[in-house]
Amino acid sequence: MPLTRRSLLGSAAGGALTAGGVYALVDRLTRSPKRVTGSELSPEQHLLQGMRIVEDNSVEVVVPPLHHQVVTAKVSVGAGKRSLVDAQEALEDAIRKIERRFAPIPAGLGITVAWGLPYFRRFVPKLAEEHIPIDRRATKTRQNPVRVLLDARRFPSDPADTILEANDVAVLLRSDLLDNIGAGAKALFEDLDLFVVTSIRKGFAGGGFDGDQSLPKRMAVAARVPGASLIPDHSELFLGFTSTQKAGLGPPKIANLEELGFSAGGYFAQGTHLALSHITEDLEAWYLNFPHEERVATVFRPGLKIGESVLTVAQGPNDVVNVARVHRDFRRTKQLGHSAGLQTVSRLSTTAVGASGAVYAPGIAIPHRADFNTLDNPFFWSADPTHDKMNDTPAAGVHFVVFNPSSDDFNRARLAMDGVLPDGTKLPFGLHDRGQGFNSILQTTHRQNFLVPPRRHRSFPLVEMLG
Ligand code: HEM
Repeated sequence: MPLTRRSLLGSAAGGALTAGGVYALVDRLTRSPKRVTGSELSPEQHLLQGMRIVEDNSVEVVVPPLHHQVVTAKVSVGAGKRSLVDAQEALEDAIRKIERRFAPIPAGLGITVAWGLPYFRRFVPKLAEEHIPIDRRATKTRQNPVRVLLDARRFPSDPADTILEANDVAVLLRSDLLDNIGAGAKALFEDLDLFVVTSIRKGFAGGGFDGDQSLPKRMAVAARVPGASLIPDHSELFLGFTSTQKAGLGPPKIANLEELGFSAGGYFAQGTHLALSHITEDLEAWYLNFPHEERVATVFRPGLKIGESVLTVAQGPNDVVNVARVHRDFRRTKQLGHSAGLQTVSRLSTTAVGASGAVYAPGIAIPHRADFNTLDNPFFWSADPTHDKMNDTPAAGVHFVVFNPSSDDFNRARLAMDGVLPDGTKLPFGLHDRGQGFNSILQTTHRQNFLVPPRRHRSFPLVEMLG
């Protein structure tokens, strides 16, 4: 009998927070990678320490943790100062207790607490007005004050029914061990009575860098997802190519709100911006309708030649594509490479000195991606299954998680992915146009932006300043 969510779970959020469901297979199908132990807690919440770097095709690749979970929720405490400050203390105590148990490394547990605009508007509207930083670049472009946190929007390749969510909080949990994720989720959402859970999202990444068959392949085959057998044996992602090469991920502090001067940071300095979305992937369409060359052209750039068995493609500072090159390639091929389009926004074009004093060379990546594959359809659990269009059948997808210095910076990258380039030009793609490669086989179902405070202000930010 095929694996279904209902046969593994039942309905209440409680069970779903810690239940492995189909994801318990991950521990049966893999061995935890060797990892370093023990490390400092950085002021940034979104940075995991002890990430392993391996080489594939002579390219450095960051090995992500095996397990990932995102829990979204609404705040269930009253809006008065007393109850909010009590909630702040209770949450902070609970997180510190977990941090004493697990180091913030893949072999331990990474916890990132992010807050949505509904939280700021409902509980601390005036303080948010005062303390959520202005995005200097966006404000200059729009000649209007623009803050680093904006409501999520739909993009040209999004279907009209992409749900723009309104959660108060999202917590990202990452670890090599499913039990550590379960312990973190239970401590914050079951043992505390501060939140009403709205969704639970689970997934996995990697597992193929040591020669084993990768997790995406094994999980998709085990769940009998259409097209699963077509996934390359060792690929990090369902769609085949490695996406966590070191050069394509922003260095540690670069996505901090203040690091590149996007904003002053202030109360939220050493914080960052989180864009969260769920994307379904039609594996059969990708592998059956797009021959290898076309997959390479539309993931990286038109004209790039690589062998059929190559999954990791160098995208270092010298490989970066600019707007002029994107136009030239498009005129010739009517195609846009995912990386090529994004690099017109996601890479530094000049040397930059960060607020931390770090020096970043041209071609260095800015966004810090932490996306992971999933079989959720669209979520592992939802408080409103009808609204979220929950479906029992496992489906190939991605819970897309990316840290940028601001909502506007994310929007610019996501627009560039659709051919809307930073010079204001727009490549004439229709919806699901083949020239966009995997963009034409993706469907974004849900989306929301969040602010990730620095660790010192991660629990109920700003309430301590209420009058
Ligand atoms: C299912 C959806 C997606 C898949 C399978 C995917 C896959 C990939 C792959 C294979 C790469 C190239 C890896 C590399 O050069 O390091 C990449 C790069 C990247 N992707 Fe995606 N991606 C997806 C969605 C997105 C979305 C929605 C965004 C949002 C903006 C995004 C942003 C990026 C960025 C910023 C890069 C790095 C570009 C660079 O600086 O070189 N991706 N992605």
